[in-house]
Amino acid sequence: MSWVRENCLSFFQMFCIKVVKTGRIPKHVAFIMDGNRRYAKKNSVDNSAGHYKGFDKLSETLRWCLDLGIPEVTVYAFSIENFKRSKEEVDGLMDLARDKFRRLMDEIDQINEWGVRIHIAGRLSLLPEDLQALVSKSMLATKHNNKLRLNIAYAYTGRDEISRAASHIVDGVKNNDLPPEDIDDELVSKILELREAELLVRTSGEVRLSDFMLWQVSNTVLYFTEVLWPEFSIWNLLAAIIHFQRYAPSPKQPEHLSDTKKRFLEKLESQRWQHIEKIVNCSLYA
Ligand code: FPP
Ligand code: MG
Repeated sequence: MSWVRENCLSFFQMFCIKVVKTGRIPKHVAFIMDGNRRYAKKNSVDNSAGHYKGFDKLSETLRWCLDLGIPEVTVYAFSIENFKRSKEEVDGLMDLARDKFRRLMDEIDQINEWGVRIHIAGRLSLLPEDLQALVSKSMLATKHNNKLRLNIAYAYTGRDEISRAASHIVDGVKNNDLPPEDIDDELVSKILELREAELLVRTSGEVRLSDFMLWQVSNTVLYFTEVLWPEFSIWNLLAAIIHFQRYAPSPKQPEHLSDTKKRFLEKLESQRWQHIEKIVNCSLYA
């Protein structure tokens, strides 16, 4: 299945989306897509088929998020902890990612038409080289899209992301790009790869964060549902949004960044893009 599913909602479902849209819609929703293997077991298929179903559900969910006008979605697609799973399952998940990122490049015109920007967050160096090149290519190819930003946490944990931000700060101070007095929670938030989410949804009945977006969920509305990820429906998404509308705190006002912070962050951003371009240019697989 392609990355964003064609609209497949009934008239009644579209009507319900319109009603929910009369209330506040979260600007950033994060998903812990859990329960693929339990779904596989329940349906007597292998784990890999469960993960493929999980991807199909992601593509359907992206369609619904576009319809709802949600501008940013983050998904936990592969944790650093997931490397501890069996070799067969890890290889299967890497093959799934290869398959889908190749497909993304084949469908790039359609992705650009939808305005989907892909951002991969995580320790890319832990991935096979060909996959590093594929994900970097998709980030470059969708860099200018602005309708829906899709952050895919891959080879990611929240604590690893915070450790990497800390090492950027140390480098910044050492190189005199960052005055130590500029180090505060606002700066750390901006250095992290993922931004604060307004709503976090976890499927499959688990009620843990599993090292996902630890810094970014300090003020987030959490929604846990029993449904397994491949069975997640538009009704589950609308229930999560209604839960958000009931419990959301008032939106935060954007903070003013000092010029030194701005310069440091711009430099960091440009180094990140240079690194991504280097991966693509140096790869045998690009
Ligand atoms: C958790 O279910 C799911 C994963 C570890 C993988 C999620 C990946 C996808 C949905 C595909 C995304 C792919 C791309 C390319 C973005 P689980 O395996 O923990 O299932 P369980 O909780 O039932 O054991
Ligand atoms: Mg699980």
